Amino acid sequence: MNLLVQLAYLLGTALFVLSLHWMSDPKTARRGVFAGAIAMLVAILATWGEPDITRHLWIIIPIIPATVLGVWLSQVPLTAVPQRTALSHAFGGLAAGLVGTAKFFYWHSEPGTPHLTPFITFAILAEVILGFLTVTGSLIAAAKLQEVKWIPQRPWVYRGQNFVNLAALLLAVGLGLLLMWFPGGAWAPVLFLMVVFLALNFGWMLVMPIGGADMPTVISILNSYAGLAAVAMGFVLNNKLLITAGALDGSSGLILSIIMCKAMNRSFTNVLFGAFGQVQSTAVAGDQKIAKSETIEGAAQIMEQAGLVVIVPGYGMAVAQAQHRVRELYDQLTKRGVDVRFAIHPVAGRMPGHMNVLLAEAEIPYDKLMEMDEINPDLPQADVVLVIGANDVVNPAARTDESSPIYGMPIIDADKARSCFCIKRSMNPGFAGIENALYFADRTYMLFGDAKQVVGELVKQLSGQGGH
Ligand code: TAP
Repeated sequence: MNLLVQLAYLLGTALFVLSLHWMSDPKTARRGVFAGAIAMLVAILATWGEPDITRHLWIIIPIIPATVLGVWLSQVPLTAVPQRTALSHAFGGLAAGLVGTAKFFYWHSEPGTPHLTPFITFAILAEVILGFLTVTGSLIAAAKLQEVKWIPQRPWVYRGQNFVNLAALLLAVGLGLLLMWFPGGAWAPVLFLMVVFLALNFGWMLVMPIGGADMPTVISILNSYAGLAAVAMGFVLNNKLLITAGALDGSSGLILSIIMCKAMNRSFTNVLFGAFGQVQSTAVAGDQKIAKSETIEGAAQIMEQAGLVVIVPGYGMAVAQAQHRVRELYDQLTKRGVDVRFAIHPVAGRMPGHMNVLLAEAEIPYDKLMEMDEINPDLPQADVVLVIGANDVVNPAARTDESSPIYGMPIIDADKARSCFCIKRSMNPGFAGIENALYFADRTYMLFGDAKQVVGELVKQLSGQGGH
């Protein structure tokens, strides 16, 4: 039986690795998701099959509400996936924290506490601190992404905040060190609960000062904390699959955070302690700039005569759920021999790969989705760039204005095309809260309205059903 369990663990680990590998390419991503789900099922069944697991009812009871909750969470719309992911991390952190707490109290009640060696106590503390701070941190992140009214979207900052946060963390680590030396003491449970309290507090205090625009990066950092908590739990429970799966989770979360920070030209410390998005207004008084708008007929005419049209999707396309209309637009233009490509910025939208997922859902061919570095050299030759609900990722201030909070962030050079149409509902700023110079450029024309509706009208016009 034990051999079977070990073989299942090996299979689970291989599937987790393959799953991550397949998920890195849109063509194989679906296979990657299935591999990950099967790996998790194998892991659960193998652990359940361990010879020392005897109280099966205690496993069946929580599986029922967890399945109901999981199915319910899987129904959320694509636009809510970032906050749903944050909730999943909160559950992961909670599981790790509760298992660590249960193990500590169980082993502490044994005479002489033989199990609570310094190493195991260290592992429990790492599990509990990382697990519980992930719970409250992820809940705040989910609430900010969901734009819950009673949680401010803007960074919540006060003087000495970093000092207070650091002091709370150091206190938790200090109490943890005391526990490692005297795990069997009568007051050890009190110290332990203080560590739990501090970790729960540290989590929300860590995330509150961070603005809504940085939440996807924060979520991916919390993902890696949850993964590391699982690694520590693997050492506590002596479960090798938890160690490998947790390490994969922890490292992939960290790598993703680094990729996102690079795409925004920001450092980790700047994301965590920089309170980005705090300065919201950059409008210069007396500087009367006017954005020109264009009619649907005019825009459709220019597009159908173009040789190359580059579509830049952003968060607005996701919110409007306009991807299927965009597919229809793609069909109409390609039918006329126009070369249509999509320029995908790594942080367009509110989660990594957001645009790829939506466009793949609408069955846009993968070879038409170009990454920013690949498409930028072609943009001066593009007859039309059509920006659909994207803002910060096409803001030329990132290239030219050193005082801008997004200065240095690599952008899609929409302003270099022969003409540019921007679909959005108003002149309101994007997530970074800053004005976009692209809208006031000579060759830019606004198409005001909801992305789904405007693209739908463009399609109607091109298919000959539009009015004149
Ligand atoms: P944003 O800069 O947030 O701009 C989205 C635009 O869509 C807004 O200007 C909004 O203007 C428009 N919009 C909203 N609803 C719309 C609708 N129904 N129809 C048409 N337009 C609509 O988005 P982006 O360009 O995709 O940039 C992403 C931002 O998120 C960047 O600041 C990036 O740094 C940040 N961020 C992303 C990530 C990841 S991983 N994706 C990670 C960290 C940070 P109106 O309100 O006028 O319509």
